[in-house]
Amino acid sequence: MCGIVGYVGQQEAAPILLEGLKTLEYRGYDSAGVAVQRNGVIHMVKAQGMIRNLCEKTRDGADLHGTVGVGHTRWATHGAPNDTNAHPHLSNGEKFAIVQNGIFENYLELRELLTEKGYVFHSETDTEVVVNLLELYYNGDLKETVMKALARVQGSYAIAVMCADFPDRIFVARNGAPLILGIGAGENFCASDVTALVSHTKNVIYIDDAEFAEITARTITVYDSTGTPVQKPIARVTWDVEAAEKGGYDHFMLKEIMEQPRALKATIDPRVKDGHVFFEELKLTEEQLHGIHKIVITACGSAYYAGQAGRYVLEQLTRIPVETDLASEFRYRDPIVDEHTLMIIISQSGETADTIAAMKEAKAKGAHVLSIVNVVGSTISRLSDDVIYTWAGPEIAVATTKGYTTQVAVLYLFAVYLAEKLGRISGEEAGKLADDITLLPQQLQRAIDLNPKLEKLAEKYRDNPSLFFIGRNVDYAVCMEGSLKLKEISYLHSEAYAAGELKHGTIALIDEGRLVIALACYEPLFDKTMSNVKEVKARGARVLGVALEGNRAIYTEADDVIVIPRTNPLFNVPAEIVPLQLFAYYVAKANGCSIDKPKNLAKSVTVE
Ligand code: F6R
Repeated sequence: MCGIVGYVGQQEAAPILLEGLKTLEYRGYDSAGVAVQRNGVIHMVKAQGMIRNLCEKTRDGADLHGTVGVGHTRWATHGAPNDTNAHPHLSNGEKFAIVQNGIFENYLELRELLTEKGYVFHSETDTEVVVNLLELYYNGDLKETVMKALARVQGSYAIAVMCADFPDRIFVARNGAPLILGIGAGENFCASDVTALVSHTKNVIYIDDAEFAEITARTITVYDSTGTPVQKPIARVTWDVEAAEKGGYDHFMLKEIMEQPRALKATIDPRVKDGHVFFEELKLTEEQLHGIHKIVITACGSAYYAGQAGRYVLEQLTRIPVETDLASEFRYRDPIVDEHTLMIIISQSGETADTIAAMKEAKAKGAHVLSIVNVVGSTISRLSDDVIYTWAGPEIAVATTKGYTTQVAVLYLFAVYLAEKLGRISGEEAGKLADDITLLPQQLQRAIDLNPKLEKLAEKYRDNPSLFFIGRNVDYAVCMEGSLKLKEISYLHSEAYAAGELKHGTIALIDEGRLVIALACYEPLFDKTMSNVKEVKARGARVLGVALEGNRAIYTEADDVIVIPRTNPLFNVPAEIVPLQLFAYYVAKANGCSIDKPKNLAKSVTVE
């Protein structure tokens, strides 16, 4: 979490840094700061709260002068969110300024060492320790100093560093946290994410873990950990500025919900040709595919729920056993995976620390790692054996929407692809399924169009302090994602329950007026889900039912009904989640919550 930016050029740095920070605010937003340098003096301003406070404090950067600078937006790890703990941090002698995203694990030991040497600390952060370490090691050679400090720190981080003696450059480094360099004309940039760069340049360099770089207005030199220059390819970003802006919507989340048909189309269409699913990007050989004994899907949060939804289709079509596991658990349970395991890693950002660790664990045990990632060039995409990109475009709202549905779509495509390759379904069946997947964008659009009343339903139910989502089979997987959406942006407590499990204890919580959202789109188990609905109604619950268009039976049981279009029953999930995304959005809006930047959260979780 946290976003960092850096600028070296001919223009005033502060307004550019502030603009960059605004686009990175989704990464953390409890405090922010910028530092610029001029005539050998570093000037720094920090402000608690959102970036707009920093903009006010600096008159949109007009109060700060200098053409070299670094900026930061914070998601607190070490120390409360306040002005003192906000980044940048200055060294005691005010020679160095640093911004950091990540964690320095051995900072306590370093703090002790520096305290013994007379250094004084003003903040509770790990970052202030490292900026003083730079000062301690400083011998007039900036590159050597940076290398020495990097060799001494442990952890997962990205940093940008300025030194008052070198007014024309910044040094950056990464190890486990994202950092991208932007190449301009007579100016260069660095940022945690390309969204902060696209308004200036589309030419970028992805630096790798354990590398560091020296950036001046006209040069970028990337070094490996021994200080040897490394040649890095220049990549072209395909996202444009509009994709990273709100485009007339009140919130990024609503814009991204509405973008889902387009995002699905961009993800699905290039992979379906002549009635078959193709993944031109895959390196997995036929022999490897035939050698798969087990599939393990690992991810965090919504990406994990996408995996749970995809699991049903993968198992049904390929008849290969599929396990799903939370990345933060997988890495610590000595999992049983080997060279016959296909490990599917799912991540929108491609930077989630737990997911990266799970991936490394699986690779070390010999599994083939196939990742489903949205951000091109992200750590997960670069470390995987195979990558399938979701082409959702930049997702800015902290709560994922189009990220999730495109992940599910890729799992559907992959299930059909694998089943055909293994001969579990015929070419004709595969063609029919592939065609059905190509219909998902328009079906998802209909799910949006069918539900103009969701704003009213949200108004009606917004006061529920605690509610349930119930469903069976794949509906249960959708319940988990629907419940997470509601919790994270509206702060209402909700539980997702397999409908048949409620009576094993939790039904004790059902009382008069309790809202139960019952998903009954998986029709083979419709009657069974209805029995569970009857059970909760008998105990006074109000039921909001979600069912397929044309299903009349739901109206006899539910107090209110949401319908979704009929798709191939295997592929319900993208259309089914839409009303739950909209419900969460409108409840949060009615309750005046901060929708795009919910409290305590950050978009990209780059710490364990
Ligand atoms: C919820 C949400 C999170 C992410 C999770 C994984 O709306 O966005 O639960 O799904 O943090 O993030 P990625 O997909 O970037 O690995």
